[in-house]
Amino acid sequence: MSKLSFFIRRFHSLIALIPIGLFICVHFMLNSSIFLGNEAYMTMVNFMKSFPFIELLEIGLIAIPIIFHGIYGIYIVYLAKNNVLKYKYYRNLAFYLQRFTSLIVLAFIIWHVYTLRIAPVSAEGTFAALLSMLQNPLTFVLYVIGVVATVYHFTNGLFTFCITWGICVGDRAQKIFAICATALFIVISIWAVGILLALAVA
Ligand code: HEM
Repeated sequence: MSKLSFFIRRFHSLIALIPIGLFICVHFMLNSSIFLGNEAYMTMVNFMKSFPFIELLEIGLIAIPIIFHGIYGIYIVYLAKNNVLKYKYYRNLAFYLQRFTSLIVLAFIIWHVYTLRIAPVSAEGTFAALLSMLQNPLTFVLYVIGVVATVYHFTNGLFTFCITWGICVGDRAQKIFAICATALFIVISIWAVGILLALAVA
């Protein structure tokens, strides 16, 4: 691996956590306001929209990092040798799932951002579009798939991040980290699907 591709690979890994991973956590926390009712949710949306230079922040801290991580990620997927069918080890399956979920995440983000951020003209329009998608059984299931795939990609990514950066070395440490990543995947998935269900009945 050349010095440049080593550097790009590390950069791809770092921005996956900060700012992208951090943003996903904050995004779920803000969306949890639906548990307090529709009014609390709309207050949160309007509060977010009232930030000065919100569009610049969205583009600089969220859109550009995701576009870079996504495009380079597709290149990594293209290079990957998916030997999951040959070797049925858990880590091998996780390696394959990390790449497979990245494609679902990519499609989901494009759909999510277009329907809720680009197409609607107002906060009320966004809320109405979100409710109508989540009250339709087909789009609700697609949403659950998109969100759970994103959570898997993120939590398994936290584990591979720790390996990439030498935080988690050795067999025993990797086993413990893998269990923690799986537990985190289950907890965040339940939380995220709970938000979708709360929105579906709002
Ligand atoms: C936009 C579509 C996306 C694509 C195509 C994509 C692709 C990838 C690929 C291929 C990897 C594996 C890299 C490797 O093994 O070296 C990866 C790692 C990772 N991704 Fe994504 N990703 C996307 C979105 C996201 C999002 C939205 C998040 C945050 C929730 C995220 C977080 C991570 C993390 C934490 C890693 C682990 C980095 C590491 O192993 O060092 N990705 N991504």
